[in-house]
Amino acid sequence: MKFLDLIKIRQSVRRYSSESVRKDKLERCLEAARLAPSASNSQPWTFLVVEDPAIKDKVAHLTFDKIVSFNKFVIEAPVLVVIIIEKPKLITRVGGFIKKIEYPKIDIGIAAAHFCLQAAEEGLGTCMLGWFSEKPIKQILKIPPTKKIGLIISVGYAPEDYRIREKSRKSLDQVVRYNAY
Ligand SMILES: Cc1cc2nc3c(=O)[nH]c(=O)nc-3n(C[C@H](O)[C@H](O)[C@H](O)COP(=O)(O)O)c2cc1C
Repeated sequence: MKFLDLIKIRQSVRRYSSESVRKDKLERCLEAARLAPSASNSQPWTFLVVEDPAIKDKVAHLTFDKIVSFNKFVIEAPVLVVIIIEKPKLITRVGGFIKKIEYPKIDIGIAAAHFCLQAAEEGLGTCMLGWFSEKPIKQILKIPPTKKIGLIISVGYAPEDYRIREKSRKSLDQVVRYNAY
Protein backbone atom coordinates (compact mmCIF):
# COMPACT_ATOMS: atom_id res chain seq x y z
CA MET A 1 0.00 0.00 0.00
CA LYS A 2 1.22 3.53 -0.72
CA PHE A 3 2.18 5.25 2.51
CA LEU A 4 -0.32 8.10 2.12
CA ASP A 5 -3.09 5.58 1.44
CA LEU A 6 -2.16 3.75 4.65
CA ILE A 7 -2.36 7.04 6.52
CA LYS A 8 -5.83 7.62 5.06
CA ILE A 9 -7.19 4.22 6.11
CA ARG A 10 -5.78 4.49 9.64
CA GLN A 11 -8.58 5.83 11.75
CA SER A 12 -9.75 5.61 15.32
CA VAL A 13 -11.84 2.45 15.54
CA ARG A 14 -14.49 2.64 18.24
CA ARG A 15 -16.33 -0.64 17.65
CA TYR A 16 -14.73 -4.07 17.62
CA SER A 17 -15.79 -7.53 16.50
CA SER A 18 -15.19 -10.51 18.79
CA GLU A 19 -12.35 -11.81 16.56
CA SER A 20 -9.10 -12.21 18.45
CA VAL A 21 -5.84 -10.67 17.23
CA ARG A 22 -3.20 -13.02 15.81
CA LYS A 23 0.08 -12.87 17.69
CA ASP A 24 2.24 -12.36 14.58
CA LYS A 25 0.16 -9.33 13.58
CA LEU A 26 0.44 -7.83 17.04
CA GLU A 27 4.15 -8.49 17.10
CA ARG A 28 4.69 -6.61 13.82
CA CYS A 29 2.86 -3.62 15.32
CA LEU A 30 5.10 -3.81 18.37
CA GLU A 31 8.15 -4.07 16.11
CA ALA A 32 7.04 -0.94 14.24
CA ALA A 33 6.72 0.86 17.58
CA ARG A 34 10.11 -0.43 18.74
CA LEU A 35 11.76 0.99 15.62
CA ALA A 36 10.36 4.49 16.17
CA PRO A 37 12.80 7.38 16.53
CA SER A 38 13.24 9.07 19.90
CA ALA A 39 15.23 11.97 21.33
CA SER A 40 18.88 10.83 21.73
CA ASN A 41 17.58 7.37 20.83
CA SER A 42 16.45 7.05 24.45
CA GLN A 43 13.54 4.74 23.57
CA PRO A 44 11.76 5.77 26.77
CA TRP A 45 8.93 3.26 26.55
CA THR A 46 7.56 -0.08 27.61
CA PHE A 47 4.68 -1.59 25.65
CA LEU A 48 2.57 -3.61 28.05
CA VAL A 49 0.26 -5.89 26.08
CA VAL A 50 -2.92 -6.72 27.95
CA GLU A 51 -4.67 -9.66 26.31
CA ASP A 52 -5.75 -11.77 29.26
CA PRO A 53 -9.54 -11.22 29.01
CA ALA A 54 -10.10 -10.76 32.75
CA ILE A 55 -7.26 -8.27 33.21
CA LYS A 56 -8.08 -6.51 29.95
CA ASP A 57 -11.70 -6.12 31.04
CA LYS A 58 -10.68 -4.50 34.32
CA VAL A 59 -8.39 -2.04 32.53
CA ALA A 60 -11.03 -1.28 29.87
CA HIS A 61 -13.53 -0.36 32.58
CA LEU A 62 -11.05 2.19 33.89
CA THR A 63 -11.04 4.19 30.66
CA PHE A 64 -14.52 5.60 31.25
CA ASP A 65 -17.02 6.26 33.98
CA LYS A 66 -20.65 7.35 34.36
CA ILE A 67 -19.90 10.99 33.59
CA VAL A 68 -17.19 10.62 30.94
CA SER A 69 -18.43 7.63 28.98
CA PHE A 70 -16.97 8.18 25.49
CA ASN A 71 -14.46 5.35 25.95
CA LYS A 72 -17.09 2.71 26.74
CA PHE A 73 -16.30 1.05 23.40
CA VAL A 74 -12.91 -0.01 24.82
CA ILE A 75 -14.64 -2.97 26.51
CA GLU A 76 -15.10 -4.53 23.05
CA ALA A 77 -11.40 -4.44 22.12
CA PRO A 78 -9.67 -7.82 22.56
CA VAL A 79 -6.24 -6.26 23.23
CA LEU A 80 -5.02 -3.13 24.98
CA VAL A 81 -1.46 -1.89 24.69
CA VAL A 82 -0.44 0.31 27.58
CA ILE A 83 2.52 2.55 26.81
CA ILE A 84 4.55 3.34 29.88
CA ILE A 85 6.92 6.32 29.79
CA GLU A 86 10.36 5.22 30.92
CA LYS A 87 13.18 7.45 32.13
CA PRO A 88 15.14 8.71 29.12
CA LYS A 89 18.92 8.98 28.90
CA LEU A 90 20.62 11.62 31.07
CA ILE A 91 21.42 13.74 28.00
CA THR A 92 17.71 13.81 27.09
CA ARG A 93 16.72 14.71 30.64
CA VAL A 94 19.26 17.55 30.76
CA GLY A 95 18.31 18.73 27.27
CA GLY A 96 14.61 18.56 28.10
CA PHE A 97 15.15 20.57 31.29
CA ILE A 98 17.13 23.27 29.49
CA LYS A 99 14.81 23.48 26.50
CA LYS A 100 11.60 22.90 28.50
CA ILE A 101 10.49 20.16 26.15
CA GLU A 102 9.17 16.83 27.44
CA TYR A 103 10.90 14.67 24.87
CA PRO A 104 9.60 11.29 26.17
CA LYS A 105 5.99 12.40 25.59
CA ILE A 106 6.87 13.27 22.00
CA ASP A 107 8.71 9.96 21.65
CA ILE A 108 5.82 7.78 22.80
CA GLY A 109 3.48 9.65 20.47
CA ILE A 110 5.68 8.75 17.54
CA ALA A 111 5.93 5.12 18.69
CA ALA A 112 2.14 4.99 19.06
CA ALA A 113 1.72 6.34 15.53
CA HIS A 114 4.09 3.67 14.20
CA PHE A 115 2.08 1.03 16.04
CA CYS A 116 -1.27 2.22 14.72
CA LEU A 117 -0.07 2.58 11.12
CA GLN A 118 1.36 -0.94 11.12
CA ALA A 119 -1.92 -2.14 12.65
CA ALA A 120 -3.80 -0.50 9.75
CA GLU A 121 -1.45 -2.31 7.34
CA GLU A 122 -2.35 -5.57 9.13
CA GLY A 123 -6.08 -4.90 8.75
CA LEU A 124 -6.43 -4.15 12.45
CA GLY A 125 -8.28 -1.26 14.02
CA THR A 126 -6.84 0.85 16.82
CA CYS A 127 -7.73 3.84 18.93
CA MET A 128 -5.26 5.85 20.98
CA LEU A 129 -6.68 6.57 24.42
CA GLY A 130 -5.51 9.50 26.48
CA TRP A 131 -8.39 9.37 28.94
CA PHE A 132 -8.14 6.72 31.67
CA SER A 133 -7.79 6.32 35.44
CA GLU A 134 -4.08 5.93 35.72
CA LYS A 135 -3.65 4.96 39.35
CA PRO A 136 -5.92 1.89 39.51
CA ILE A 137 -4.68 0.72 36.10
CA LYS A 138 -1.10 0.84 37.40
CA GLN A 139 -2.16 -1.21 40.42
CA ILE A 140 -3.88 -3.86 38.30
CA LEU A 141 -0.94 -4.13 35.91
CA LYS A 142 1.69 -3.99 38.66
CA ILE A 143 3.28 -0.90 37.14
CA PRO A 144 5.49 0.84 39.73
CA PRO A 145 3.74 3.92 41.18
CA THR A 146 6.60 6.22 40.12
CA LYS A 147 6.05 5.44 36.45
CA LYS A 148 3.64 7.20 34.12
CA ILE A 149 1.26 5.73 31.60
CA GLY A 150 1.49 7.88 28.47
CA LEU A 151 -1.17 6.32 26.28
CA ILE A 152 -3.28 3.22 25.90
CA ILE A 153 -4.06 1.78 22.47
CA SER A 154 -7.12 -0.39 21.90
CA VAL A 155 -6.55 -3.04 19.24
CA GLY A 156 -8.92 -5.38 17.42
CA TYR A 157 -10.94 -5.82 14.26
CA ALA A 158 -13.52 -3.28 13.23
CA PRO A 159 -16.90 -4.90 12.43
CA GLU A 160 -17.53 -5.55 8.73
CA ASP A 161 -19.95 -2.65 8.40
CA TYR A 162 -17.40 -0.18 9.82
CA ARG A 163 -16.60 2.34 7.08
CA ILE A 164 -13.46 4.34 6.42
CA ARG A 165 -14.42 7.89 7.35
CA GLU A 166 -13.40 10.97 5.42
CA LYS A 167 -10.69 12.66 7.50
CA SER A 168 -11.87 15.76 9.32
CA ARG A 169 -8.80 17.95 9.28
CA LYS A 170 -7.82 21.59 8.95
CA SER A 171 -6.76 22.46 5.40
CA LEU A 172 -3.08 22.72 4.46
CA ASP A 173 -3.60 26.47 4.09
CA GLN A 174 -4.59 26.67 7.73
CA VAL A 175 -1.68 24.71 9.12
CA VAL A 176 1.27 25.35 6.81
CA ARG A 177 3.34 28.49 6.51
CA TYR A 178 6.50 29.05 4.57
CA ASN A 179 9.56 30.99 5.68
CA ALA A 180 7.85 33.05 8.42
CA TYR A 181 4.99 32.53 10.88
C1 LIG B 1 -3.06 11.65 22.43
C2 LIG B 1 -4.39 11.16 21.95
C3 LIG B 1 -5.38 10.83 22.86
C4 LIG B 1 -6.61 10.35 22.43
N1 LIG B 1 -7.54 9.95 23.35
C5 LIG B 1 -8.71 9.41 22.92
C6 LIG B 1 -9.65 8.86 23.86
O1 LIG B 1 -9.42 8.84 25.08
N2 LIG B 1 -10.79 8.34 23.37
C7 LIG B 1 -11.08 8.31 22.03
O2 LIG B 1 -12.13 7.82 21.66
N3 LIG B 1 -10.20 8.81 21.12
C8 LIG B 1 -9.04 9.34 21.52
N4 LIG B 1 -8.11 9.80 20.61
C9 LIG B 1 -8.41 9.70 19.17
C10 LIG B 1 -8.70 11.06 18.53
O3 LIG B 1 -9.96 11.52 18.94
C11 LIG B 1 -8.63 10.88 17.02
O4 LIG B 1 -7.33 10.50 16.65
C12 LIG B 1 -8.97 12.17 16.24
O5 LIG B 1 -10.29 12.56 16.49
C13 LIG B 1 -8.80 11.98 14.73
O6 LIG B 1 -9.58 10.93 14.26
P1 LIG B 1 -8.96 9.65 13.54
O7 LIG B 1 -8.00 9.01 14.52
O8 LIG B 1 -10.14 8.75 13.25
O9 LIG B 1 -8.26 10.10 12.30
C14 LIG B 1 -6.88 10.26 21.04
C15 LIG B 1 -5.88 10.58 20.12
C16 LIG B 1 -4.65 11.01 20.57
C17 LIG B 1 -3.57 11.31 19.53
